[in-house]
Amino acid sequence: MQNLAGWNVAKTLFGTAAAAVLWATLLNGSSMQAQQTGSVNAAELGLMPLPSHFEAGTGSFSLQPGMHVAYAHFHNARLEAGTVRMMTRLQFESGVPLPHIPSQVAGDLSSAAIVLNVAGPGGAVQSIDEDESYSLIVTPKLITLNAPTVVGAFHGMETLLQLVQLKDNAAIIPAVSIEDTPRFRWRGLMIDVSRHFEPVNQIERTLDGMAMVKLNVFHWHLSDDQGFRAESKIYPKLTGVGSNGQFYTQDEMRGVVAYARARGIRVVPEFDIPGHSVSWMVGYPQLGSSKGPFQLPDVAGVHDEAMDPTRESTYVFLNRFVGEMSKIFPDGYFHIGGDEVEGKIWTSNPRIARFMKHKGFETAPQLQTYFSQRVVGIVEKHRKKPIGWDEVLVPGLPKNVMVQSWRGVDSLAAGARQGYTGILSAPYYLDGMKTNETHYLADPIPADTTLTPEQQKLILGGEVCMWAEQLNERTIDSRIWPRTAVMAERFWSPQSDRDVVSMYRRLPKVSIELEQAGLKHITGPAMMRRSISGQVNPTALTALAGVLEPVSFGERSETQHTDGHTPLDRLVDTVVPDPPSRFEIAQDVDAVLNKTSDSTEAEARLTRRFMEWQEIAPMLAAQMQANPRMSDAAIRAQQLGELGSLGLNALSTLNPNNPALHGTALGQARSAAIDDATKPAALVRFTFLDSLRKLVNGGSAAGAAH
Ligand code: ACM
Repeated sequence: MQNLAGWNVAKTLFGTAAAAVLWATLLNGSSMQAQQTGSVNAAELGLMPLPSHFEAGTGSFSLQPGMHVAYAHFHNARLEAGTVRMMTRLQFESGVPLPHIPSQVAGDLSSAAIVLNVAGPGGAVQSIDEDESYSLIVTPKLITLNAPTVVGAFHGMETLLQLVQLKDNAAIIPAVSIEDTPRFRWRGLMIDVSRHFEPVNQIERTLDGMAMVKLNVFHWHLSDDQGFRAESKIYPKLTGVGSNGQFYTQDEMRGVVAYARARGIRVVPEFDIPGHSVSWMVGYPQLGSSKGPFQLPDVAGVHDEAMDPTRESTYVFLNRFVGEMSKIFPDGYFHIGGDEVEGKIWTSNPRIARFMKHKGFETAPQLQTYFSQRVVGIVEKHRKKPIGWDEVLVPGLPKNVMVQSWRGVDSLAAGARQGYTGILSAPYYLDGMKTNETHYLADPIPADTTLTPEQQKLILGGEVCMWAEQLNERTIDSRIWPRTAVMAERFWSPQSDRDVVSMYRRLPKVSIELEQAGLKHITGPAMMRRSISGQVNPTALTALAGVLEPVSFGERSETQHTDGHTPLDRLVDTVVPDPPSRFEIAQDVDAVLNKTSDSTEAEARLTRRFMEWQEIAPMLAAQMQANPRMSDAAIRAQQLGELGSLGLNALSTLNPNNPALHGTALGQARSAAIDDATKPAALVRFTFLDSLRKLVNGGSAAGAAH
C-alpha cells in the first residue's frame, strides 16, 4: 500500500521536539539495548542459550584479515567441515576476510588466532551420553575453544559466532571465559511432514537453525493419516499410493541424517502406530482393522481407523519395516507414536472383540498395551529404544520405553515416578500460538517439582513440536523461528535463567542470526505480503501485520475447517506469533505509566505508532476491502485506526504538554474499541490490546486525579 498519509505525519513530527527525541531513539536502537553496567554479562552480549558459567574478561579480541585457526591435536573431517562453516560465517558477520581452510595443524600453534583443542571425535553414533560441553576463552590475543568431542566444539563455535560485535569501527569479540554444559541431554524439535510435506532443503535449513541454538535431536514425524513420507523398498506402496507423490527417497533420508550428524544433531524417526496410520493402509489394506479400501483423509484429526493388533501378519510387516528403517536411521531411539487411538474400531469388530475376550482384555487400551508390547519387542530386536506418546503409559508398558509427554508436566512426572524416562512437549506445541514468555517459562522439571532427585534424572529434556495441518513450505519457518530459540535456552541453560525481559531483548538478534543461516522466517511472511498486496513495498500492510498474530490451532481449525486443500495464503499466513511489537509496546507503556528514565522516548515511540495507525487505516481498509485475499481482514485495518486514536487520546490525557500531540485529531475514541478489537476476525488477533487497555486505564486514573 502506498503510505503517503503516513509520510506526511512523519514530516509533521520532524518539526517537533518530541519527534527529535523519537528519531534519535530510533536511530540509537532505543531502550531495547541492555544497560551496560561495569563488566558485561552473557545476556548483555546477546547469547542464547545462556551459558552455564560466564565470566567477563578485560578488553577484546579484534578480528584481523587472514587470521588462522589451528587444531591443538585431534581433528577429523567432521570437525574440519564445521570449522570451515564457522570461518565462512565469521567472515560474513565480521566483514573481515578470513581463510576458510584452517592452514595449521597440531604442533604449530604460534601464529594461530583461534586454537581448537578437541579431545576426540565423540560417539560414532551420537547418543544421549555424548559429552556436549565446551569451554571458550577469549583474550585480546587468542581465542581457545576446548571440547571433549566434536559436538562440544560445534556448540562452542556457535557461542563464538554469537559474541561477534561490530563497534568502534572494528569487528571484535569481547574477552570472556565461558564454561558451558547443557542442563538436559535431549533438546529436540519435531516436524510433522505428513500433513504438509517439507522438501529436503527446508529440513536442512531447519537443522542449521537448530545447531545455532544448540538443539540436538531432530524428531521426524514421517507418517500420519495424511501421508506416508519415507520410501520403503520392501513395501513400495507405502509411498507409492500413500504419499501423493511427496516423500523422501532412502538416499534423501540418509542425506538428512548425514547433514544432521555434521552439525551435532541426532535424527529420530517416528512412524505413528497403531492410530494415525491410514496412509499405511491405502497400499496395504490388510494392516487395517476395518475392511477398506482406504483413502488418504483430507481432514486431519483423530480417525477411528487403527492397525489390527490381532493379526500376526501385522507384526511380520512391522518387523520387516522397522528393520529396513533401522538401517537408514542409526540413532539409538525409534518413535512408534501410540497417540490418540479411539479403540471403537477394535471393540466394534466381532473378530477383534473375540480376540480380546480370548486374551482376557476388557478395554481397548488393554489391547493397545498388547500391541505396544509386541512392537516394543520388534524395535528392541533391531537394537533401538522405543519412544511413545503419553498414551502408551499404561500398566504393562515395558520399562525401556521412553515417554514423550504431550499432555503436560504432570503426565511426564507420573511416568518418572513409575521409572520411565521421558521428555516434555506439551507446553512447546508451536501451533498453540502462545507467547514466547509462556514457552520460555515452561520447564520440564519445574522448580517446585515433587519428584525425587533420582526420578528427576529420568526426565531427559524436552521437544518443541511443529504439527503441520495449518502450514506449508512457505510458512513453516515463520512458525518455528525465532521462538524455538527460547525453548532451546530452557533446555540448555540453568533452571534459574528465567528473566523474560532479557529473553525478549536478546531474541531479535538471534532472529537475525537465524536469517543469516538461511531461514525464511522474516522473508517468508514479507514475500507473502508482497504477493497478496501486489506491491513491492507494502508499508501500511506491514505496519498492520506487525501488530497481529495468528489465532491458536484450535480457533483456526474451528473457524476455517482447515484441510489439506485449504490455501494457506491469507493475511493470517503473513503474520507471525508473538512478534516483537507485543513486547515493545508493553515496555513502552510501562515506561510511560511508571515515568521511568526512558519515558520520554517511550512516549515518542508510542505516539509515532499510534499516529501511523490512525493515518494508514482508512486507505488500507479500503484497499483490503477490495482485495479478495484480504477483504475479511479489512475490519482489522479499520480497528487499527480506532486503536491508534484511543492510544493518542490516552497519551494526551497523561501528558497534556506533549507538543507532538497538539492539534492531532483524536476523534471519538472509546475504550469500547478495545472490546471490539478482541472479537474474532480473519483468524488474526492484535498483540497489544492488554497494554493499550493499561495505558487507557492509567490515563483516565491520572486524568481524574488532576
Ligand atoms: C499428539 O499431539 N497427538 C501427539
